[in-house]
Amino acid sequence: MAETVFEQVTQQEDLLDVGEFRAATEPLMPEAYRNFVNNVGMERTLQDDIAAWQAMHLRPRALVDVSHIDTSVTVLGHKIAMPVMTAPFVGSTLIDPEGEVATARGAVAAGTITTLSMMGTRPPEAVGAVASGSYWLQIYFMRDRGVVEDVVARAVAAGASALVFTVDLPVMPAFPRPMRLAAQGLFQRWQEPEHMMYAIRDYGDRPIGATFPDAKATWADVEWLRGLSDLPVILKGVIRADDAIRARDHGVSALIVSNHAGQGLRSSQPVAHALPSIVDAVGTDIEVYADSGIRSGADVLRALALGARSVLVGRPVLWGLAAGGSGGVERVLRLLQAELAEVMAITGAPSVAQIDRSVLG
Ligand SMILES: Cc1cc2nc3c(=O)[nH]c(=O)nc-3n(C[C@H](O)[C@H](O)[C@H](O)COP(=O)(O)O)c2cc1C
Repeated sequence: MAETVFEQVTQQEDLLDVGEFRAATEPLMPEAYRNFVNNVGMERTLQDDIAAWQAMHLRPRALVDVSHIDTSVTVLGHKIAMPVMTAPFVGSTLIDPEGEVATARGAVAAGTITTLSMMGTRPPEAVGAVASGSYWLQIYFMRDRGVVEDVVARAVAAGASALVFTVDLPVMPAFPRPMRLAAQGLFQRWQEPEHMMYAIRDYGDRPIGATFPDAKATWADVEWLRGLSDLPVILKGVIRADDAIRARDHGVSALIVSNHAGQGLRSSQPVAHALPSIVDAVGTDIEVYADSGIRSGADVLRALALGARSVLVGRPVLWGLAAGGSGGVERVLRLLQAELAEVMAITGAPSVAQIDRSVLG
């Protein structure tokens, strides 16, 4: 399987790694979106995340039969072809008219799960139509909880399989001027009907912008969210082991260790440094995933070696989307899978279960 994937990507495609996707597609993005994606003026945390993954050396293991590599994993009981899923992001219709629907199609074609942002443009019904059972809905808390309730009910009806509650933005950070200008530019574009967030378009009588985010949200609200549906609840944006334990004790099914790749708290601890303490704290009680700064199959392996069950990727997927819509998303995901398969082979782990911390040097 791995050989096939590796051959497909290397023989058919010109863009050989995520960096090449980025270089090829950035000129195609509207300037404000490119600047927002790049955290312009507040790059430090993202750079620290990327560097922290890459700083971990790997140790090859000799003479293991790696003629067959299996990159599949199970997340919340759902088998996916690779331990890589797509992270939620706003604004992708600015680089592809189908936006989140194209991302979902690409993820499904690659055999994995996609996450729709509550601030996305395409609604749960449109994403569910192409990815029923294979998509998660990401939630931000509005002070108007009726909107959250309604969006969750719509997502359940449209085949969402989990709710991802993003907890690392209780307030909107004051961006430095370059990022603020980018955000202002995007808010202008989001007035246009084809780019408007569905949570604004569909609830026009409610002042969503003015009520986001809800700084009052606490652990009690996690229980409230759990009570809205039978779907498992995942917390996104946990960095501390004590929060991970609290999440488990509040019935959360999984965590995404993430610092929003630098779009929230600046000077956040890199995810690569936070991950081991969280895995050690919650063991196998709940599933642990990671995102922020993952750019290669080797980075995926590093996260798995530290105990993550899967990773999510944001910007690499956006670069894939800009490169070729759903086909570009699929290509980027398959490229990461092929890179992972290669590094699994050289480090002597034919299956994901065989990856452990001993691979890190
Ligand atoms: C343009 C952009 C928009 C984003 N929008 C959201 C969002 O709406 N909700 C959310 O939980 N995270 C959002 N994120 C954060 C991603 O879900 C994810 O945590 C991060 O991008 C992962 O890091 P990576 O891009 O280095 O892979 C966004 C990230 C980017 C780059």
